[in-house]
Amino acid sequence: MPNTFYITTPLYYVNAPPHLGGTYTTIVADTIARYKRMMGFDVKLFSGTDEHGQKIEREAKKQNSTALELADRVYTQYLKLWKLIGIEYDEFVRTTEKRHDASVIELYTRAKANGYVYKGSYSGWYCVSDEAYAPESDPGTPVACPDCGRPTEWFSEESYFFKLSAFQDRLLDLYEKNPSFIRPEGRRNEIISFVKSGLKDLSISRVTLKWGIPLPDDPSHVFYVWFDALTAYLTGIGFKTDDKKFSKYWPVDTHLVGKDILRFHAVYWPAFLLAAGVETPKSVFGHGWWLSQDVKMSKSRGNVMDPFVLNEVFGSELLRYYLLREMVFGQDCNFALEAIIQRANSDLANDLGNLLSRTVAMLSKYRAGRVPAPGEAKGDSEVRELAARLIANHRANFDDYNFSRGLENVWELISRVNKYIVENEPWAIAEKPSEARKLDSVLFHAAESLRIIAALVAPAIPKTAQTLWEQLGLDGKVTSVPLGTLRWSQDLVGKTIRGGPSLFPRLDPKEVMKKMETAAGQDEGAAAAKDAANPTTAPQITIEDFSKIDLRVATVLEAERVKGADKLLRLVVDLGFEKRQILAGIAVAYKPESLVGRKVVIVANLQPRKLRGLESNGMIVAASIGPEDKPVLAGFHEEVENGARLK
Ligand code: MSP
Repeated sequence: MPNTFYITTPLYYVNAPPHLGGTYTTIVADTIARYKRMMGFDVKLFSGTDEHGQKIEREAKKQNSTALELADRVYTQYLKLWKLIGIEYDEFVRTTEKRHDASVIELYTRAKANGYVYKGSYSGWYCVSDEAYAPESDPGTPVACPDCGRPTEWFSEESYFFKLSAFQDRLLDLYEKNPSFIRPEGRRNEIISFVKSGLKDLSISRVTLKWGIPLPDDPSHVFYVWFDALTAYLTGIGFKTDDKKFSKYWPVDTHLVGKDILRFHAVYWPAFLLAAGVETPKSVFGHGWWLSQDVKMSKSRGNVMDPFVLNEVFGSELLRYYLLREMVFGQDCNFALEAIIQRANSDLANDLGNLLSRTVAMLSKYRAGRVPAPGEAKGDSEVRELAARLIANHRANFDDYNFSRGLENVWELISRVNKYIVENEPWAIAEKPSEARKLDSVLFHAAESLRIIAALVAPAIPKTAQTLWEQLGLDGKVTSVPLGTLRWSQDLVGKTIRGGPSLFPRLDPKEVMKKMETAAGQDEGAAAAKDAANPTTAPQITIEDFSKIDLRVATVLEAERVKGADKLLRLVVDLGFEKRQILAGIAVAYKPESLVGRKVVIVANLQPRKLRGLESNGMIVAASIGPEDKPVLAGFHEEVENGARLK
């Protein structure tokens, strides 16, 4: 019986359309699943949507629809996206499915029967955006969410608690006995110190919330959304519904998550399972974030890239390749369109695309399309040895979830073979019958390298790999190649190559930008993403939060350009009670002389900071309009005194 391998993506919240972060996790999970299938494992890839909880309930209200209607809409978008980008999932769980209720109730009932659930009351601050409890603090002192920094909300209500505190030692023991339970290493250490610092019992039910699964023994409560969502990993694999399947695939091999939700998976989740007497996962991997100019891409910051648009403009293969190759798995990485274009033009069009097209062209021209048996040419054995070494390295890297290195291995082979072709000058020797064996060798080595390359890239860029395979004249599916025994062979000898259109076009940055705009204008996901960035949907704050911002009226006394900075103006403003120097990025929209004497609004209590060596003591308030974010200064229609406060 083949070894099984169960891998999961998180269950995505349905309050907003799919975003790049979750798309990335899912592409990685799909790549691992495809790799493991080619290594002979019996694989189950799980994905799902997290549809209960306050966050969804609120967003639905805002959109004037029911929570389930909203969930239906976003769930459909996820399915559409997964199809577009080639995700071959085996299981998908929506947490609103009936079968899922049964497994949540089962897990809870077992944990309760084992004495790990009790009734109490919860008072504290809660982050609706993360659906997470903030550390203890009194009701009068609002706290920012320790994870995302957004304001939290006060709750005080009856609740059922899970005795998380009882699991501190067992969790530490689990981490110690299974050093690869939490990966990467750095995050493992963070989790260990978090657990060592002490665990408090966890509220696992809500009485004021209605959008959730009711507790079986007290239906006035619904389950805390994380207790509900995590359990979906069991639902997907037959917990309570298919014992045979469940015992075959559980415990899960890898839960793949972003680092922001590692704590839920590496602390709460194994504790719930231990409490219910269910085996704990084999490993949890917390990957890094995609950043935009060094800041996390997130829906609420409005700096996310819409995966539908990216897919439309670049295609799923380039998108997959870029995401897997660019990010060192586990670390953060800046997302840049320029880098995608660079990868497209150099790695895909130039290196891989050219190797295929020149090999196919030479075989057609010199050997009527048939792959000859090898003769002898300069560098033959070096190419073969390199291929053998890189196959092994690639495998080790993929086993270790080191995708960028694994792909680098393949591109090292591609470069070497391109160089090998050039060194042997096939176009020159083709004319000389005495050099026929040398030419045979070049053609064979190039084609066989491409066969190996097709198999190696298949988990990451499956459609490209299949095209390569077919252009080489091979039948069936490239995915049927057992990667575990892949080696240099003579399989291609005598085969007739088919050829075909070039693999990847070269991209022109200007054209790409134009396409991005058109695609963004047409896409429903993009429209929804824009809406998520709209300030009217920014997280709510209290009046106390707002009162912390000291907005004042001031008059501009001096204004001049800052040398070497195109956008910056240095202003001196009169606040009535004092004069201030402020640097403002408004030079694209305002000439300095037009500002002198003008009334403006400033944020007066912003921490001073230095820009271009000059201190800025405050910030001018402006609207930003249009695609270029052109600033338009806030002002008044009536006369207002300097120093007047805006409330
Ligand atoms: N619903 C929870 C997960 C429950 S699993 C039992 C959730 N959903 S989410 O939709 O907000 O996030 C899903 C995933 O996207 C998380 O793994 C998160 O880390 C990932 N990302 C969100 N923004 C990201 C980046 N900017 N970069 C990479 N991944 C990030 O959390």
